Amino acid sequence: MTSKDIRDKFIRFFVGKGHKEIAPAKLVPENDPSTLFTSSGMQPLVPYLLGQLHSEGKRLVDSQPSFRAEDIEEVGDNRHTTFFEMLGNWSLNDYFKKEQLSWSWEFLTKKLGLDKEKLYVSVFGGNDSVPKDLESFEIWKSLGVTQDHIFFYGVEKNWWSRSGPPDKMPEGEIGGPDSEVFYDFGTPHDEKYGSNCHPNCDCGRFLEIGNSVFIQYQKTTGSLKEFSQRNVDFGGGLERLTAAVNNTSDIFETDLYKPIIDAIVQLIGKEYEADNKPAMQVIADHMKTATFLIKDGVVPSNKLQGYVLRRLLRRSATKFYQLTKNMKFLAEMIEVYNAILSIYDGLYGIEKRETSDINLLEENYKVIFDEMNRFGKTLSAGFHKIDRMEQIDGKEAFDLYQTFGFPYEVTEELFRLKGQEINKEQFRVEFEKHRELSRTASSGMFKGGLADHSETVIKYHTATHLLHQALRDILGPTVFQKGSNITHERLRFDFSYDKKMTDEEIKKTEKIVNEKIEEDLKVDHLIIPLSKAKELNAIGLFDEKYADQVSIYGIGPKYQLNPKAKDRRSRRGYYSLEFCGGPHVEHTAVIGKIKIVKEEAISWGIRRIRAILKS
Ligand code: ALA
Repeated sequence: MTSKDIRDKFIRFFVGKGHKEIAPAKLVPENDPSTLFTSSGMQPLVPYLLGQLHSEGKRLVDSQPSFRAEDIEEVGDNRHTTFFEMLGNWSLNDYFKKEQLSWSWEFLTKKLGLDKEKLYVSVFGGNDSVPKDLESFEIWKSLGVTQDHIFFYGVEKNWWSRSGPPDKMPEGEIGGPDSEVFYDFGTPHDEKYGSNCHPNCDCGRFLEIGNSVFIQYQKTTGSLKEFSQRNVDFGGGLERLTAAVNNTSDIFETDLYKPIIDAIVQLIGKEYEADNKPAMQVIADHMKTATFLIKDGVVPSNKLQGYVLRRLLRRSATKFYQLTKNMKFLAEMIEVYNAILSIYDGLYGIEKRETSDINLLEENYKVIFDEMNRFGKTLSAGFHKIDRMEQIDGKEAFDLYQTFGFPYEVTEELFRLKGQEINKEQFRVEFEKHRELSRTASSGMFKGGLADHSETVIKYHTATHLLHQALRDILGPTVFQKGSNITHERLRFDFSYDKKMTDEEIKKTEKIVNEKIEEDLKVDHLIIPLSKAKELNAIGLFDEKYADQVSIYGIGPKYQLNPKAKDRRSRRGYYSLEFCGGPHVEHTAVIGKIKIVKEEAISWGIRRIRAILKS
């Protein structure tokens, strides 16, 4: 069974149970400054899990590309990746444990045909404030799961919220006990992970293939309380499900990675075996994640998402270098990229354009190539430096990591060949210091998330729509949004355009935006069929697979409290009409005034504008 079969079956199965298929969100959240990446299927649905009504109803299903940056260092074995597709189904205060566990069991055993004997489940074992989940235990038993296949664990394993266990949940955060399903590959236990093996052991014998979270708690000051609604949030990694269905314990052997691994093998002339495996796994994962991030408008930089992308590309380049000891691979890496596009051709807005001619490459690949090419030079310099070093301590290893982007394990391996062990603890201390610094920097920037900053962030958000349209007015219709990032302090808008804007163009753009603000245009939220939205020429990022109804924001005509005027909705009446999930201000005058403070190139054919609000 292919990954495509599994993805399709999942969606169809839950549509058959009354769910509506919804469009996946972008990997970089558009309107949520509280987080850098979409890391699970539920993340874009938080407002609805909190009680807001969803236009598609109470039962939803999708397949959500997700990225977990915190797992970067884990990649390099049979099962860890930073990118994955999460198959998800949700009940927004509709069905609960009985339906969820029965359906998920039916899907795994009947639709995917997984052998019941190889499936194990885990259930929440209870803590001081939340009781043991005996209800789920009984449901699993009634479904025919034998008691020796059911395991109870505490909050550290069987509790899910975006922030982890209850004591880590900030005030207002929702979460709850969960119940996971594991597939047993029967591989020998590795005692490094403890004397006894069990489903939630990290040795790699068992793979978690699905997680049903029962979101029924909310954190209040210091404690948990029963939440006003009972939601189900299910997530299952498509890569792992594909591995289980095909009974291969290495997800890099599934059709979601094999073509990439094959391209790497071909490129460097080494087999996917033994010591080569971890480096190839890292390259395959990181290049795939990078492709998705770039598609969603991220470009390598020293900050936030751009920094993470840079790190992924540099890590890949280092691993290539480690395997080949030269930089020749760079020119031919397009084959690895092509392999990634082939896997997702027709999905998530990816279309494969077959070319091996470096001059004809699409813009997105240029971003990868340029970054790796530039880094290639640093890399050679780094290796050169290492060659001249006789001794190395943990702090120096960290400097190499910081300056040249050398992953610790590469440095460690190189020095081991010279017969030297590095003090890993010292490296770790430096690393933690650095991590703490970046954490503080980014939490300062994104303090509290959208709810806390809503007024200013929302003003910036509406101003961004006006800016998008004004840029098209001034520079022409080839201008399209490539990315957007809004904080409390400024808006940042990336768009396609291949020249520097003149001072006059910048001034004119700013003037239009401020005029539209001053005209006090009304902002309308429309939920209409996709065909209608296209007819109206709505602009924006809609290259994904949308469900039937799409969410659009229209700005204009003038705001007035006349209900008849409100109903006159035509493209003509709107100055800006854009695909968007909101939120926005009600009418533009509240924005005040904007000022464009910077216009710059961020990569080939992409410009970036920063603007601030002036009161
Ligand atoms: N949100 C849950 C998870 O990520 C399903 O595991």
